[in-house]
Amino acid sequence: MEYPDGATPLDPDEMEGLRFRHVATRGELDELEQANIESGLLWLARLRRKDILTDEFAITLHKRLFGEVWKWAGAFRRTGKNIGVDPIHIAVELRTLMDDARYWADNGTYQPVEAALRLHHRMVSIHPFPNGNGRHARILADTVLKQIYGAAAIGWAGGHDLQKMNERRIAYIAALRAADRGDMGPLMAFARPAEREV
Ligand SMILES: Nc1ncnc2c1ncn2[C@@H]1O[C@H](COP(=O)(O)OP(=O)(O)O)[C@@H](O)[C@H]1O
Ligand SMILES: [Mg+2]
Repeated sequence: MEYPDGATPLDPDEMEGLRFRHVATRGELDELEQANIESGLLWLARLRRKDILTDEFAITLHKRLFGEVWKWAGAFRRTGKNIGVDPIHIAVELRTLMDDARYWADNGTYQPVEAALRLHHRMVSIHPFPNGNGRHARILADTVLKQIYGAAAIGWAGGHDLQKMNERRIAYIAALRAADRGDMGPLMAFARPAEREV
């Protein structure tokens, strides 16, 4: 399997969680995952619940997006990766993040897009799951924008495939790295123009 820059490779025991046999290429796996994500998005579109700023919802969402492909969907990572907190800290960090996001929404701490981007960045920095963290955290941010803030989703892909290497992914990963250093500017700039496309 080949991975684009900024992706977290799967360990052999995580690969064993694949619900399909005979997946030979990255492209086949991408298609299986994409089909699962689309059924997850249908579930999400019908969803009417107010408690989406909870750790339980974040976990349920991952399971809905990836559970038809991976047995470990909705279960926390057990191994260290090049991105993310130590696995033993995932549960507490995730709960703290979702509590903070709830607080931001209740108190109008940030404008909607900034709140969603801060949630997104901290989620991928925790990196709760073995895989699918980027897609999960982008869909979560959009769900929060729409269902909590009544705002438009972020046009993350901007006409590209964010799962592949292209100028859009390069800008996205660079913006996350700036956010790692405490600078939200590039991520805000990344989200701003695309917002109008939605
Ligand atoms: N320096 C970084 N800081 C925070 N998050 C990052 C960084 N680099 C990459 N990421 C995030 O990690 C994701 C890749 O993790 P992965 O679990 O493979 O998600 P996916 O399978 O959905 O692409 C990227 O899409 C991005 O959201
Ligand atoms: Mg990945």
